Amino acid sequence: MITAGIIGATGYTGFELFRLLVKHSKVELAWATSETYCGKLFSDVYPHLKGINDMILKALPEIQQDQVDVVFCCLPHRTAMSVVPSFLEKQTKVVDLSADFRMGTADSYSRWYEVEHSCPRLLGQAVYGLPELNRDLISKASLVANPGCYPTSVILPLAPFLEKDLIEETDIIIDSKSGVSGAGRKLSLRAHFVEINENIVPYDIGRLHRHTGEIEEQLSNLANRQCRVLFSPHIVPMERGILSTIYVKLKEDISQEQALGIITNRYNDEPFIRVLADRLPETRFVQGTNRCDIAVSKVDGTNRLVVISAIDNLLKGASGQAVQDMNLMFGFKETEGLQ
Ligand SMILES: NC(=O)c1ccc[n+]([C@@H]2O[C@H](COP(=O)([O-])OP(=O)(O)OC[C@H]3O[C@@H](n4cnc5c(N)ncnc54)[C@H](OP(=O)(O)O)[C@@H]3O)[C@@H](O)[C@H]2O)c1
Repeated sequence: MITAGIIGATGYTGFELFRLLVKHSKVELAWATSETYCGKLFSDVYPHLKGINDMILKALPEIQQDQVDVVFCCLPHRTAMSVVPSFLEKQTKVVDLSADFRMGTADSYSRWYEVEHSCPRLLGQAVYGLPELNRDLISKASLVANPGCYPTSVILPLAPFLEKDLIEETDIIIDSKSGVSGAGRKLSLRAHFVEINENIVPYDIGRLHRHTGEIEEQLSNLANRQCRVLFSPHIVPMERGILSTIYVKLKEDISQEQALGIITNRYNDEPFIRVLADRLPETRFVQGTNRCDIAVSKVDGTNRLVVISAIDNLLKGASGQAVQDMNLMFGFKETEGLQ
């Protein structure tokens, strides 16, 4: 058994982690923090936990002396980087769900997040926590940067084609649609029922969204050359889920069967990737799971391939992936607590 703590436990990703960790057979949850609700029971914030787990939420300063084996940091970006280093100094392993350790350099971080990074030396140490790409590195890491939800939905379906140098790396068009929980639990006008119900909202179209940098950095690593994407996110009136439809240009002519074969072979042994041959991904069929569903569609008479993926933004796009990373970091079965 290992001990774990959750920082920022009352947010949407924190709550999902809490739910996963309390039933994980190898983990004892030692504490969970909230600055707004400290001193209250977790079940006061999320009443469906009443009688299941009535842990008292603590403020961050209260848990600084409590040693645990792993900490999950579920704070907003720009805040996480001020909290994570103190845990690493105590030899505690950290899975950070924010974007603060995902970028390779301090320059790229400040370009996309518009602040200086406060501990740039840790950027070189952090491992990008996408198990399907970085399994070995994650298993040896003390700091894992859990990938963003949109980037997970984009990198997984494109990786098999970039690794084989099959697609034009500067002609990648991504159309993504996300449920409202992707924006977190904090109040915002855009998430009000009347604003989002019966509505679809495009935002940060083109190259404006901060995940553009993360996506390009990871795709470039895979392709071994600079990738450029157009990324157009949308918020749609559902609680959770991301559907990404990605348009790429093929460097050589391959058939629908060949495209499907490439992606199937790449992910044959992956427990959380399901390649669909006979239907297209839909968010409702991955909801509540740590899976990524992927399908491809070759457009006849063109050199275009359309790649489609669906994930649950709070699981494979956040807390489920974080538990998958923790399982690797501690040598547990990768699927433990996730099936
Ligand atoms: N939502 C998603 O689908 C998703 C997916 C992938 C990654 N992420 C990333 O994961 C992180 C958490 O996301 P979320 O959706 O769970 O956010 P959220 O619902 O807004 O929750 C954020 C949590 O952080 C705490 N917090 C906020 N500001 C703080 C501060 N200055 N100091 C200490 N605690 C603070 C809040 O705690 P109290 O108010 O209780 O104190 C709350 O528990 C973010 O970095 C986000 O970008 C989110």
